[in-house]
Amino acid sequence: MFSEKMQQAFNAQINAEFYSEYLYLAMKAFFDEKHLAGFANWFNVQVQEEHAHGMGMYNYVHERGGKVELAAIEKPVLEGDCPVSLFEQVLKHEQLVTSKINALVDVAEAEHDRAALSFLDWYIKEQVEEEANVRQLLATLRLIGEDKKALLMLDRELAARTFVAPVIG
Ligand code: FEO
Repeated sequence: MFSEKMQQAFNAQINAEFYSEYLYLAMKAFFDEKHLAGFANWFNVQVQEEHAHGMGMYNYVHERGGKVELAAIEKPVLEGDCPVSLFEQVLKHEQLVTSKINALVDVAEAEHDRAALSFLDWYIKEQVEEEANVRQLLATLRLIGEDKKALLMLDRELAARTFVAPVIG
């Protein structure tokens, strides 16, 4: 039984995942404008990943016999205008998403929804990975500082990132 409370909580998280997609698309645009194609590519992969996260939940709600309800997606606002400040924002955002996933797990626990708990395990693990990746990149960017040559080398490295469709659940 997929409760009304569970359905509402999942729909809220679908919105949060699609907001993440939109936020990272705004960041891709930032780097496209600066002709840092590797960073833009890194964010393009983020965009696709967030879309997959949102669709994973969308499909799950449907699979459980629930109703998908899409809400408006907020306008993304970038905090700062350099790679370090944007990656600080990404880390802060991923930490917020982690707390939202944890809150969703709390709802599933309160509703005694074992199936949802098992499904959400994937998202919990994914958040650990997401935060770790961003923390690593942020540390590298802080080391780079004002070194433009090193920044271009990192840009080249980030150009190699490819999207691998996740198997969710
Ligand atoms: Fe869907 Fe980046 O968490």
